[in-house]
Amino acid sequence: MWGGRFAEGPAAVMREINASIPFDKRLWRQDIAGSKAHVAMLGAQGIIAQEDAATISAGLDRVAADYAANGVADDLALEDIHMATESKLAEAIGPVAGRLHTARSRNDQVATDFRLWVRDAIDAVDAGLAALQRALVTRADEHAESVMPGFTHLQAAQPVTLGHHLMAYYEMITRDRSRFADARARMNECPLGAAALAGTGFPIDRQATAQALGFDRPTANSLDSVSDRDFALDYLTSAAQTALHLSRLAEEIVLWASQPFGFVALPDQWSTGSSIMPQKRNPDAAELVRGHSGRIIGCLTSLMITMKGLPLAYSKDMQDDKPPVFEAHDLLALSIAAMTGMVETLTFRTERMRAAAEAGFSTATDLADRLVRVAGVPFREAHHITGAVVKLAESRGVALSDLLLGDLQAIDPRIDVDVQSALSVDASVAARTSEGGTAPVRVRAAIAAARARLGDE
Ligand code: ARG
Repeated sequence: MWGGRFAEGPAAVMREINASIPFDKRLWRQDIAGSKAHVAMLGAQGIIAQEDAATISAGLDRVAADYAANGVADDLALEDIHMATESKLAEAIGPVAGRLHTARSRNDQVATDFRLWVRDAIDAVDAGLAALQRALVTRADEHAESVMPGFTHLQAAQPVTLGHHLMAYYEMITRDRSRFADARARMNECPLGAAALAGTGFPIDRQATAQALGFDRPTANSLDSVSDRDFALDYLTSAAQTALHLSRLAEEIVLWASQPFGFVALPDQWSTGSSIMPQKRNPDAAELVRGHSGRIIGCLTSLMITMKGLPLAYSKDMQDDKPPVFEAHDLLALSIAAMTGMVETLTFRTERMRAAAEAGFSTATDLADRLVRVAGVPFREAHHITGAVVKLAESRGVALSDLLLGDLQAIDPRIDVDVQSALSVDASVAARTSEGGTAPVRVRAAIAAARARLGDE
């Protein structure tokens, strides 16, 4: 298609290194849509005859039908999806196909196709994340009152509710979705019409093509239009951060499914066995979600490094933009689906969680708070007294709430009669009613707010 000034064809290895068709054939739907918008505009503007525009448009529909039925062949000689489609079009409608590429370059064409693809990818990810949020909210609602240890430094810190813990992930996913939504809003400008890099002398109508393809407006600068891949980087940044959140939840599932924790049991559907150790039930899906996050972050790094040294405008290095985005998207979509499945079907072993919360002296802060509230003891002093109480319980191997009132009052006489009830894990979580706190009433309010938001979508 560009051989006019060449006497010889490319070397076989040149052909191989140059070709992007093995991966960019994934853009075929977007390539057809972009070409149809372009040719309709060329006809409307009188740049080509209306009749030729109609023939080309119908021909593109035939090519699309052929791709849908038979797939896109990996013909390295045709280099990429743009040339492959033009060549198919010529087979279908003859030499008039050659008028399609008027006032256009593959540089603005690929930038347009790829934006359209990333936009669709964002919509798919958003739907997946909404489903994951629904699963989290459903499970949180079941467990708004289930007590578990809350951790800092992975040491039992204060009791929390499992519903509260799950809703923390709901919040992370809310931010992830808003990051994708920002990326989508920012990228929704149409580069078509920038041509190779400088614009074109043909009287094109960029507003018309932008509108036909669902973009908010045309891009403002032709050089930027063909050399910008921020939209792909924004997608990868959002994907990397989402993957990071999924990885943290995956890590908790791995930890919680281990025997020493025993907080969750994964159903058969989401577990694998060992070929040598018959007792094993491995959380492979969670481990792979954790693992895939590393690869997704790698995809972001890969494209950043590809772009960082490129002068304006288009350079062929930019053809390498697609594999990391496709890879990240496939891994992310799979990770979201797997995480949703696990969250929906996990069995939470609430009796184990409760026992762990009771075992770790995790209500010590409640005793200190009570001394402040009931006896007016300054918090620093209350902290010290409570430390002595914990030491005693530890030396006797009992829970704080098992200590006798006499023992407690021997440490400090200001400890009151009702202290035992305040030291239960249920009383501890119920007391934490501050905004955003772990008390079941707060968790239920957070769930109701989340449901209203998810229901409004
Ligand atoms: N396959 C190329 C890519 O994906 C299309 C653009 C080619 N442009 C060019 N000037 N050779 O980037």
